[in-house]
Amino acid sequence: MKRREIFAGNWKMYKTRETAKSLVKSLLQGAALTENREVVVFPPSPYAAEIASLCGGSVISVGMQNMYFQKEGAFTGEVAPAMVRDCGCKYILIGHSERRHVFGETDAEVNKKVKAAFEHSLVPMICVGELLEEREKAKTETVLEAQVKEAFNGIDAGRAGTAVVAYEPVWAIGTGKVATPEIAEEAHRYIRSVLEVLYGKPAADDIPILYGGSVKADNIAGLYAMENIDGVLVGGASLEADSFLKIINTR
Ligand code: 13P
Repeated sequence: MKRREIFAGNWKMYKTRETAKSLVKSLLQGAALTENREVVVFPPSPYAAEIASLCGGSVISVGMQNMYFQKEGAFTGEVAPAMVRDCGCKYILIGHSERRHVFGETDAEVNKKVKAAFEHSLVPMICVGELLEEREKAKTETVLEAQVKEAFNGIDAGRAGTAVVAYEPVWAIGTGKVATPEIAEEAHRYIRSVLEVLYGKPAADDIPILYGGSVKADNIAGLYAMENIDGVLVGGASLEADSFLKIINTR
């Protein structure tokens, strides 16, 4: 059996309160239960509490797409880690490509958020991934190693083993250009080798590594067949119940 699997949908800045609720209700009806697979949705922050209460006691967990690392204070517009918990969220997405590249989030900030997540009993889903020009210059491994090492800086093996990593090559996000299963597997294997150097084999083996970037119902099978791909983080195809249900019910 594969290690723990996570099939996640990142709704980004889409949906209204009503369409968010109706999407999650359809997912609750259609998601088939499997022993070691968890389904996670990341709604926009204003809807997280309501979506989490609809999902209470179900197979679907809820996460927030971003938070600040400080406990509280004069930080207008930001969301504190305890507020994420208070909304009923289990997961927190950290370092998504759009946070890094649209909002200028740095590796150092990612690391502070990872630490804050653990301090508030949230499971960090840490996103890493190279730009197209970095891949073309054969810098993929250097970039992934730096992002992983920085994100986990100061985190012990016990905590690291409960985290989740998502490999999202920036060139594959929202472009329709999905990584081939072989390219994704190579990156996942490399990320796991970096985690193994940091934490040893047992902890590195426990950490689910999800693939994200143009995942659709018709390309998931090849990705899911790969040894080191433990699930997916889906953007566009998670916004409609039919397509996301096909993905989360992949066997
Ligand atoms: P797409 O599935 O739309 O390419 O988005 C991927 C993503 O960014 C998920 O976090």
